[in-house]
Amino acid sequence: EKGGWSSFMRKEVAEQPEAVANTVRGRIADEQVVIPELEALGDEELRAVRRITIVACGTASYAGLVAKYAIEQWARVPVEVELSHEFRYREPVIEQDTLVLSISQSGETMDTLMAVKYAREMGAKTVSVCNTQGATIPRESDAVVYTHAGPEVAVASTKAFVAQITALYLFGLHLARVRGTLTDGQLAAQLHELQAVPEKLASVLEESEKVAQLAHWMADTRSVLFLGRHVGYPIALEGALKLKELAYIHAEGFAAGELKHGPIALIEPGQPVFVVVPSPRHPNSLHPKVVSNIQEIRARGARVIAIAEAGDAAVLPFADEVIRIPLAAPLFEPLLAVVPLQVFAMELAQAKGLDVDQPRNLAKSVTVE
Ligand code: M6R
Repeated sequence: EKGGWSSFMRKEVAEQPEAVANTVRGRIADEQVVIPELEALGDEELRAVRRITIVACGTASYAGLVAKYAIEQWARVPVEVELSHEFRYREPVIEQDTLVLSISQSGETMDTLMAVKYAREMGAKTVSVCNTQGATIPRESDAVVYTHAGPEVAVASTKAFVAQITALYLFGLHLARVRGTLTDGQLAAQLHELQAVPEKLASVLEESEKVAQLAHWMADTRSVLFLGRHVGYPIALEGALKLKELAYIHAEGFAAGELKHGPIALIEPGQPVFVVVPSPRHPNSLHPKVVSNIQEIRARGARVIAIAEAGDAAVLPFADEVIRIPLAAPLFEPLLAVVPLQVFAMELAQAKGLDVDQPRNLAKSVTVE
């Protein structure tokens, strides 16, 4: 039920702090990750994994791309992310020490289901991350880590996305413990970061009015670009997808480092570009590189909307608008930075008088090819 909300999407965007909190709840004890559903896969089996292949579609695949950075960093296992429909129609190299990790909100996406079945036939272990209890994909997998985002009704995925990243991070930290790739202290620090996300999400949501105004001013925009690096890159892709599906506006997400390799040719005066800016506070931060990307596009007339950490003053001289997110460790920034992009797409669609819960031509769950 929508309760007092004007749309399911608005309600689900607002429920994101809760979606993350519920996905974490009961899964951290004594500064360790506890995921009883994973017991079907013993520690020995997890130690034997040499490669992880993530299969998913749409927004779920972007959660997978975010998780790739975290799982590789924490558990030191190579992770690749592939769209399920590409995976299932080529003969991918899947071996017994490959773990195939599927991500699906509905648990019924046909292409992802077929990818999981193929992986099992090839002898791989399969784990699914799913938001729907008892759905087909988890039933076809060796183990499942449920997201507890609650039912997601709006076609555009929002709270399921942040819950997917949360569940994948818990999985990654569990793997790191089993494989001994993080010290107890490092593990505890990451878990604290994760536990702090719901409160930070609540404060990002407080910025929504500013984002809504921006969307209303931009209601006639015909094309929007999104840039990010590292974990900000999949967030740029997700921002573009949200805008396409909700507002029917041409949008593209790029890895900012790719600009010079082509996309910068698209920049002309007035072109709106959202840039996901990493925190400047960490050693090896990509912040200076992103700021120089901003300067490059600004010099060509782009209208820059920066999503930047509170207190980051370096973006101010170059950005037309700055949307602030709270301080977080680098791997946790995507959980926060995605929210203004969701709100922007939703508000812009609303400003155009479109149905944000049920965009044209789309279905909530794609159970056919
Ligand atoms: O149910 P699933 O997570 O498997 O669905 C995957 C995609 O169809 C889904 O994320 C789609 O891209 C959404 N409409 C995005 O908002």
